[in-house]
Amino acid sequence: MEDKKVLLSGIQPSGDLTLGSYLGAIKNWSALAREFDCYYFMADMHTITVRQDPAQLRKHTLEQLASYIACGLDPEENTLFIQSHVHQHAELGWVLQCFTMFGELSRMTQFKDKSAKHAENINAGLFAYPSLMAADILLYQPDFVPVGEDQKQHVELTRDVAGRFNSLYGDVFKIPEPYIPKVGARVMSLQTPTAKMSKSDEDPNGCVYLKDDNDTVMRKFKRAVTDSETCVRYDRENKPGISNLMEIYSACTGKTYEEIQREFDGKGYGEFKPAVGEAVLSVTGPIRDEANRLLKDKSYLEQVYRTGAEKAGAIANRTLRKVYKKVGFVPR
Ligand code: TYM
Repeated sequence: MEDKKVLLSGIQPSGDLTLGSYLGAIKNWSALAREFDCYYFMADMHTITVRQDPAQLRKHTLEQLASYIACGLDPEENTLFIQSHVHQHAELGWVLQCFTMFGELSRMTQFKDKSAKHAENINAGLFAYPSLMAADILLYQPDFVPVGEDQKQHVELTRDVAGRFNSLYGDVFKIPEPYIPKVGARVMSLQTPTAKMSKSDEDPNGCVYLKDDNDTVMRKFKRAVTDSETCVRYDRENKPGISNLMEIYSACTGKTYEEIQREFDGKGYGEFKPAVGEAVLSVTGPIRDEANRLLKDKSYLEQVYRTGAEKAGAIANRTLRKVYKKVGFVPR
């Protein structure tokens, strides 16, 4: 156990899990469970940077935990926990805010996007969010942080902040590497294939949710926006819709783009689109059904997140004590 490399990641329970979060993140997590010492959490503290309905937030947090397990993250092998249960996140988050520069935070793409989208609520938490994310990561001294492409910038900022801290106080933090999948790192909306598929997509047809029933998934893929060429060929720039579908198909079947091109050579989009839907369902259907089954067992889920918080808290506390000592706080 001790010499296993450490891996950590999280997802905001700000909505239902999407095919994007699955292919960009969770799919890789379950593949790595045996090889690494893994920490996965529900990033509930991050979600309140945007207003949430409290009952919905609680519901999404538990659903996300059930989905993690259903995706193959065995709670016996992985530490699964709820971020707000481990108070060290908030505490280290504060310390790291004092080591993150205003200019750095201003350059974060997610901040720019979200502040444009929520212009009426550009709060300090939304701005300082990457410092909390740096704390989430650095508390556990991970080697790798498996995320989709859109989170790479935050992991890079984490590395900079950790390096800055270390250069002042000695080697306190391990400098983590982002771990980004080759296929599926940036799943795009089925309706606007130039925009990221997102939990908060305004067009419900653009986003596939893990909990969608079979008919809904098939309908969304059949309606996916394509182009007028009717040729299944990978070209991100000129054929964003088809390229996105090919990427999804590849991530779900393991087939290369050449294999997919050959498979659908001479066949129209009318055949390709439902085939992608079927491929997705073969992966997400069983996850959805298992998550629904687990959700009925509240006491099991409770036992998982309690044990997880205990294990995570012990590790997090070790790092936080070290940090407090380094910056000069008097131990209690
Ligand atoms: P979040 O909740 O937006 O997304 C969770 C994970 O899913 C990936 N992802 C995607 N990948 C491919 N295509 C998409 N369309 C897509 N949409 C989402 C994201 O890259 C991410 O890996 N700040 C993080 C949550 C977080 C975190 C952390 C992650 C908080 N603390 C510490 C890692 C480590 C976020 O908002 O992800």
